[in-house]
This record gives sequence, C-alpha cells and structure tokens, in this order.
Amino acid sequence: MRPQVLTSALFSAIRFHSTSTFPRTLAAASSSLSASSSSIFRTTTAYISSSTCPASYPYRLFSTTNNMATPINANSVLDLIKNRRTYYALNKELPISKARIQEIVNEAIQQVPSSFNSQSNRVVILFGAEHDKFWNITTEILKGIVEPANWQATADRQALFSKAAGTILFFEDQTVVADFQQKFALYKSQFPTWATQSDAMLQFTLWTALEAEGLGANLQHYNPLVDERVQAEWSVPASWQLNAQLVFGGRAAEPGPKDSFPVEQKVKVFGA
Ligand SMILES: Cc1cc2nc3c(=O)[nH]c(=O)nc-3n(C[C@H](O)[C@H](O)[C@H](O)COP(=O)(O)O)c2cc1C
Repeated sequence: MRPQVLTSALFSAIRFHSTSTFPRTLAAASSSLSASSSSIFRTTTAYISSSTCPASYPYRLFSTTNNMATPINANSVLDLIKNRRTYYALNKELPISKARIQEIVNEAIQQVPSSFNSQSNRVVILFGAEHDKFWNITTEILKGIVEPANWQATADRQALFSKAAGTILFFEDQTVVADFQQKFALYKSQFPTWATQSDAMLQFTLWTALEAEGLGANLQHYNPLVDERVQAEWSVPASWQLNAQLVFGGRAAEPGPKDSFPVEQKVKVFGA
C-alpha cells in the first residue's frame, strides 16, 4: 500500500473507531461501536472543533491532551492495524452476526474519504450460499483457463476460499468518476487513481475492522475474469468496476510471522 493510502486509511480508521466511549482496549473499541453511536461521533466532532467541550465528555478519556485534532490516541489505531493479518484458513462460524457485519460495512463506506467527497465506492456483501456461488463461478472460470498440470494447486486455493463464510466485493462506480472528470477538468487524469485509492482505504478499513471483531479475512483479485458473471448474477450496474474481493470467516488457523524490511529503508525524516 502506498504511504499516502496508508496515512489516509489510518485516519479513516481513527474516525471509524472514534464512536467508541472507552476504546482503551481493542475489544472494548470494537464491541462498543454501534449504529446509535454515530450521533455521539457527530456531537463529539463538533465539540473538538470548539472550546465548549465539557470536561466530562467521553473523548477526553482517550485523548492525551484536550486540544488534539483527533479524539483518540494513535496507539489504539496502531493496535488495530497490527491486529490485521491475512487469514487464509477460514471457516463458516462467524463470531458476530451478519447484521453486525452489515452495520460495520455501512459505517465504513459512509466514513471513508474520497476525492472531492465524490463517494465512488460501492460494495456487494455475499453471505453463505451467495458466497459459495461466487467461488463456484470463479473456480468454473479458472478451470477453463488454467493448464491441467497446474489445476490442483488452483483447485486447492479455491477450496480454501469456499470454506469461508462470506465475501465482500469492492467496486468503483465509473459514472461518478466520469462525472467528476467532467466537473473538474483540471484533475481529469487524477480521478481514476483517486477512486482506486479511496476504494483501497475502504478495503483496508473493513479488513481491519472485521478482524478487530475476531473474524479472519484475506484479500483476493479475481477481477476482471469474473466481472461479467458477477454483473449478471447479482444485478450489478455495468458502471460498477470490480476491484477486489475480501474473503471473511471464522479463524481456522493463525497466520505465521511476517518479515518486514527495516523501517529506515522506508521512511525519511527532515527537520525533526
Ligand atoms: C493491494 C493488495 C493486493 C493484494 N492481493 C492479494 C491477492 O490477490 N491474493 C492474496 O492472497 N493476497 C493478496 N494480498 C495480501 C498480501 O499478500 C498480504 O497483505 C501481505 O503478504 C502481508 O501479509 P499480511 O496481510 O498478513 O500482513 C494483497 C494485499 C494488498 C495490500
């Protein structure tokens, strides 16, 4: 993920979790997020930008100062980010309800930023039999193009995804992109990239948020192979361009350790 995408995604995550009253721990942060809390978030935001915030208002509980621009300590966000990994071994036992997953998706898609607030992100959530159908379609298409000698490895991988509980399909609405290209001609060449960046922020937010609630997930890219079948099967508008698939479910096994190149190779600092 490019640095600017990660930075923006991080701030999206801050907003997403700022609805919590006591986000001192990961579990508390994720379990207290609810539809009804979005009004608290709005009120809190208004208070932060004014000097009228009462000392007892919840955001003070998770700020290190009273004047911070964001209402929670960054370590809460970093804990969520560290908790996100690629889980391939998944099962159909979801630790939270389907309604809760929908609530998380709805909140995330409303809060994740987009260029000029263009809101080009679209998603389709597939649970249970609909998820199975998606992976049957994908396997069927792959069967037609993968060399027989390589088929077993592909089939094994597809079987892994089929064992999961659901899949979120991520799209960009190209009518929105075209509309903003027309409205703001100066940035015409940028809007497709910005739409993809905004979608990446949504993918990262949902991957992180679902794993904060105890699910496992992995990110796949079977587009554009499956695009036409997806459009037909789930009545997806032709203008919705498929970008990625987030497979989710119960955790059947933990991921192994991950290597990281030294941070010094990746970050330059000036004027510190
Ligand atoms: C933009 C992007 C595309 C990815 N595409 C795939 C993919 O097509 N298939 C896959 O199995 N994993 C995919 N991944 C997962 C990465 O392989 C994985 O995030 C990386 O190895 C780090 O491991 P972690 O997710 O456990 O931190 C993708 C990740 C990103 C950020």
